Amino acid sequence: MTDKDVAKGLAGVVADYTAISKVNAQTNSLLYRGYPVQELATLPFEQVALLLWNGELPTDEQLAEFTAFERSHRALPPALKAVIDALPLDSHPMDVCRTAVSFLGACHPESEDSAPEAELGKAWELFAVMPAVVCYDQRRRRGQELLEPRDDLDYCDNFLYMAFGQVPAPEVKTAFNVSMVMYAEHSFNASTFTARVITSSLSDLHSAVTGAIGALKGPLHGGANEAVQHTFDEIGVIAGESQAAAKARAKEWMEAALAQKKKIMGFGHRVYKNGDSRVPTMQKSFFDMVQYYDRSDVIGLYQGLAEAMDEAKGIKPNLDYPAGPTYHLMGFDTPTFTPIFVASRLTGWTAHILEQRAANSLIRPLSAYRGVDERHL
Ligand code: COA
Repeated sequence: MTDKDVAKGLAGVVADYTAISKVNAQTNSLLYRGYPVQELATLPFEQVALLLWNGELPTDEQLAEFTAFERSHRALPPALKAVIDALPLDSHPMDVCRTAVSFLGACHPESEDSAPEAELGKAWELFAVMPAVVCYDQRRRRGQELLEPRDDLDYCDNFLYMAFGQVPAPEVKTAFNVSMVMYAEHSFNASTFTARVITSSLSDLHSAVTGAIGALKGPLHGGANEAVQHTFDEIGVIAGESQAAAKARAKEWMEAALAQKKKIMGFGHRVYKNGDSRVPTMQKSFFDMVQYYDRSDVIGLYQGLAEAMDEAKGIKPNLDYPAGPTYHLMGFDTPTFTPIFVASRLTGWTAHILEQRAANSLIRPLSAYRGVDERHL
């Protein structure tokens, strides 16, 4: 076996069929169940979640049934609150999310029931409760109390309400909804594939989601949205600085980082090599938030880094590049960015868990042995 027989990182390997989303790197397009993600970004996230799970957009009746379920399953169960309270305040919020899902699985009476209806029910429950987990965890770190959910609000309004105690302005809610739709699904990315691998051994849904959260945490995957904000913080925004001066500082930082062979978070993609199809829509929402919060001082840095990276290596931003700073402007703490991604990608993960179960084959690739030759005691 030679190096070219080994698909390092499984790059270019087609591991299975999926009907959930289609990524086309050549045309820079992403379809969920056939619909371009840019069109879906105009719909409430709840409808997109149902599309991912069911294959079709919901009828009014299906939407009403889901809405009633979702709004009545939002509250943080007291036992889960106690588990979160037992975790150190300096633990990573992704560890909190992972522990929360694992705990919910351990307590779930239908944990081992893998019938599609039972699996979908568990997916709906996780969808409904995850905002409470994410928001309460941010609040407890700030010394704030848990806010009970409001069942008169839709998913995004309630999410932002539980985080900040205020129903958001329509502009903010729209940008947040766009981010949730954009993050929801992306074929066989590392976390989704993790969920499918775990499912393929006939393990349970909560185990698969717990594993997926672990995969998403890494900065080469979902953790990049946090890492982008760390870059912004490191370079720093200077009040009153001209855009040209901010761009020049960004360029200088980029050149130094690339000279040190650093991976720049928020740039590059395993599949898209000419730009990420989701960026223009998310970037528009970022610019909307810049305008809404009157923060044009961040634009120089944002554009300067992207231009410098394009000039130096021709590598384009990925979705995390506009998403991280958007969450920052909304007021989320940086370590909460990837947990928001969890709340969204839960939909894609659980759709893939259902799909994997429906036509399962144990995922078990081979390895090329490169260790010491056979030896004996
Ligand atoms: N910063 C600097 N260089 C980068 C880069 C980045 N963000 N992304 C890719 N490159 C470079 C690599 O160093 C490599 O250069 P080389 O050929 O001189 O060694 C070349 O581009 C090809 O990259 P490669 O690592 O093979 O791409 P990949 O498909 O394995 O990696 C990512 C894809 C996403 C892991 C990679 O682009 C990355 O680490 N990005 C930053 C993390 C991130 O934003 N993740 C979120 C993804 S949605």
